[in-house]
Amino acid sequence: MNKLDSELVAGILESEGFEQVSVPECADIVLFNTCSVREHAEDRFFSNLGEFRRAKQRRPELVIGVLGCTAERLAEDIIRRMPHVDFVCGPGRLGLIGRIIKGNIDENPPQPPFGKGGKSEQCLTGFAPGDCVTAARAPRTGRVRAFVSAMRGCNCGCTYCVVPFVRGPERSRPAGEILAEINELERAGVREVTILGQSIDRYGRDLEPRCDLADLLRSVGKESGLERIRFVTSSPRGITPKLLEAMAGVPSVCEALHMPAQSGSDGILKAMKRPYTSAQYIAVVAEAQKHMPAIELSSDFIVGFPGETDEDFEATLRLMEETRFLQCFIFKYSPREGTAAAALADDVPAGIKAERHARLLEAQNRITLEKHEALVGGKVEVLAEGPSRKDPSRFAGRTRQNHIVIFDPGRTKPGDLVVITIENCTALSLYGTPQPTRNY
Ligand code: 5AD
Repeated sequence: MNKLDSELVAGILESEGFEQVSVPECADIVLFNTCSVREHAEDRFFSNLGEFRRAKQRRPELVIGVLGCTAERLAEDIIRRMPHVDFVCGPGRLGLIGRIIKGNIDENPPQPPFGKGGKSEQCLTGFAPGDCVTAARAPRTGRVRAFVSAMRGCNCGCTYCVVPFVRGPERSRPAGEILAEINELERAGVREVTILGQSIDRYGRDLEPRCDLADLLRSVGKESGLERIRFVTSSPRGITPKLLEAMAGVPSVCEALHMPAQSGSDGILKAMKRPYTSAQYIAVVAEAQKHMPAIELSSDFIVGFPGETDEDFEATLRLMEETRFLQCFIFKYSPREGTAAAALADDVPAGIKAERHARLLEAQNRITLEKHEALVGGKVEVLAEGPSRKDPSRFAGRTRQNHIVIFDPGRTKPGDLVVITIENCTALSLYGTPQPTRNY
């Protein structure tokens, strides 16, 4: 979502006549987009921001803005602690970025930050109805894959999570608007769209008439020519039979599901206020596999949540081994101010968190490698994206299940669907050669 927000901001500013430069030294305006999901992300931002203090002293005309979730969470603090910052703008107000930068915010005084009382002319925070969800449409060209936001905010109330505080309550975009944006992206060459929402399985509950993600997938499947559709991020509770039928029934919906489990321990899941048990999670996976035998799952896990014992952690390892995800993102628990879990003692020592993190990562890397090895010698269908970042002489692309494939492009162009014979692999990627086609 943050990547998309950065692209939208860049697009809005470009359409207002601004130009992107490749190094901050050449910029007249420097914008930081921030994440507050863990302390580490915020620490890195503050240290990067600190480095601009001197630049501002040398060039007082330099405009420095802080956007996103940390801007929302710490608006007044940032202005107070970092006098070289000209303004902060929360994620709900990004649609106003052009006006903010041009210094003519012509609306009524900005709303106070969510849950706080402060107000400052340099802080634009809060969540107005119909905020940037609709306003921030921006041209994004020259790409094979793109993100499209279907909803913003979250009402879930997981006890560790700061997102509802910084991104506000759930707001869905009408399907017609999402479709119009997708059609626009298609005209610009996009062939794969990932539909985004912090809790995408809850899409449409706030719309009138009410609709759901299954309806949205069916209409995007029918009314777009997209080759591939994905969506993130969902909770097991929202993976209903209706949704699985839509996923299986719409040919462009990929056989991939990002469904964060967070933990395999029922006690920890309960303390996290995740509305499922480990057994229920596994049952949803089985149901998904029944509908789409080729499906690959991915997940997020948090290690070291308050009170997590060795047994709890072993349960997480068991869930990982049993589900055999293609990929997992593993995080060390980080207390976030204002969340329910922040009231609990952060009692798992840093060393144990690090050890559990490493063990889980190791287990997942082994599983991913085994899954990759099983594909060596076979063929996979890949949507070519363009030069690989690590080795630009080769191309990178993905399978429908989301395996990353690196290959010699031959005559392949970005956006082509190619069949690749897999010859080699690591835990990160598959390597292979495109099958000659009639065009050769
Ligand atoms: N500490 C550690 N990880 C967190 N996440 C969310 N909040 C926290 C936290 N306080 C992780 C979850 C989520 C992912 C985006 O970030 O795993 O799915």
